[in-house]
Amino acid sequence: MGDSTDPGKGPACGVRPAEIICPPARYPRGVSKAPPPPQLLVIFGASGDLARRKLLPALYNLAHDGLLPTPFAVVGYGRKAWDDANFRIHARRAVEEFSRRRIDEVHWQRFAEGLFYVTGDYNTGVCYETLDRRLGQLESTLHTLGRRLYYCATPSKLFALIVEGIGAQRATGPSRVVLEKPIGHDLASARSLDRAVRRTFSEPQIFRIDHYLGKDTLQNILVFRFANPLIERIWSGEAIEHMQVTVAETLGVEHRGGYYETAGAMRDMVQSHLLQVLAYLTMERPARLGGAPLRDAKAALLDAVRPFDPTDVVRGQYQWGVVEGHEVPGYREEEDVASDSSTETYVAVRAWVDNDRWRGVPFLMRTGKRMAHRVTEVVVELRDPGAGHLFAEAVAGVPCNRIMIQLQPDPGISIAFRVKEPGLGPDMQTVPMRFSYGTAFAVEPPEAYEHLLLDALAGDETLFLREDVVERAWEIVAPAIREPGAIHPYPAGTWGPSAADQLTPPHKWHLR
Ligand SMILES: NC(=O)c1ccc[n+]([C@@H]2O[C@H](COP(=O)([O-])OP(=O)(O)OC[C@H]3O[C@@H](n4cnc5c(N)ncnc54)[C@H](OP(=O)(O)O)[C@@H]3O)[C@@H](O)[C@H]2O)c1
Repeated sequence: MGDSTDPGKGPACGVRPAEIICPPARYPRGVSKAPPPPQLLVIFGASGDLARRKLLPALYNLAHDGLLPTPFAVVGYGRKAWDDANFRIHARRAVEEFSRRRIDEVHWQRFAEGLFYVTGDYNTGVCYETLDRRLGQLESTLHTLGRRLYYCATPSKLFALIVEGIGAQRATGPSRVVLEKPIGHDLASARSLDRAVRRTFSEPQIFRIDHYLGKDTLQNILVFRFANPLIERIWSGEAIEHMQVTVAETLGVEHRGGYYETAGAMRDMVQSHLLQVLAYLTMERPARLGGAPLRDAKAALLDAVRPFDPTDVVRGQYQWGVVEGHEVPGYREEEDVASDSSTETYVAVRAWVDNDRWRGVPFLMRTGKRMAHRVTEVVVELRDPGAGHLFAEAVAGVPCNRIMIQLQPDPGISIAFRVKEPGLGPDMQTVPMRFSYGTAFAVEPPEAYEHLLLDALAGDETLFLREDVVERAWEIVAPAIREPGAIHPYPAGTWGPSAADQLTPPHKWHLR
């Protein structure tokens, strides 16, 4: 990863290799939350990819850490004709393959005893009756007091049907529902889904997931901004010239071509993850961290984001290429993808936040599949004071201050600043200070889904999307979806189409 302007790289632009200024430290992992109350977790679509790769491993890790409620049980639901034993075998394989921790037999046995499965489809009332009966039986033996968390982990077109099926059985009482992204396909479908879900659940019972919000590294953006006066005082357009957000994947669409054809990068990534990252980077300081104030601050920020001008958007689609040494097919050759598809696998946007803090500051955001490297990072470029500055001559051509926040794969923050070169002359260089989570903390952070599942079980809605935020995000991307513009091919294994360079002047993409 990286180009010559990366503060962590070589001296091509006057930047020398990094020095770690934060001494390696070992901190115990603290969990300050009260344990969630006893309940049942019902996963619709329990045989699917999300359950296998994320939910079951996250639940196992929470069980391992003693953070799940007691009593507690997980009931998988789906069309697969499984029984409890099949589900437990499936869950074990999922944990073996995807958990951040290896299986510990004692913890596993205790966790597995709380896994159950009910077979049924999504549109037959009698199937929901069967499920409800099974849940009732478990409740009477476990004493979970009718508290249920229903998790919709199916394709989103089924969400309304599932919620209707739940609602047909009984009043939902203290239960809640989790909806995975995407929440709708556009503003109208998001509203229609919301209307359908609210026939059964009220807004405080609805937990809409954008898993980026469960990432430690995203939450650290708020800590970095608001717990450090050094940073908080410079965080505005007065000192900041522009920001870049890059979310680059090396994967293609894998087996999700059918879904991706109906979505594309604008719906799949920008409407959700990138706008959430932008909100964390730019929102005003919330009055409190929890619940409504944080969500209000985010909503207010998104209200100030200008709906995308189609001329500020560049779309791309990957073609055959080489990614990390392997040849990969083009998007149109992928399974379930049309041979003349015009779905974008890459989007670059120049976004604007029309409020006093950020007016006139460009936010260059891009995301793509089959890019050169897997990386999620934010680059914050500070303004150079320019003419009249004490060192105006000496700084010419020496990069100004830059803050890089890397969210993955090597989370950390680096700050580049100018120093005097040793010697008798006035020359200076830009050097980086780098903080690396991996080096500074000898603990592995929890997965985003651990955080989110724990919060949903506890009824803490802070990290979940409120309906107004979902709808505003659809309004922001709507003009670009209505007028999608040309699709620019790019070879897999690159940083996307060169057409995206037209968005950046007078700046350049940091990674290219
Ligand atoms: N996979 C991820 O990494 C990921 C990431 C973020 C968000 N999400 C969201 O999470 C939800 C689940 O994603 P997923 O990748 O797990 O989905 P998936 O594997 O395609 O489907 C999950 C399960 O839903 C059931 N299902 C019912 N009707 C289906 C249909 N028409 N087509 C496919 N499956 C159907 C299937 O179980 P039965 O046949 O047993 O009923 C299937 O195993 C989606 O809303 C997705 O957008 C997924």
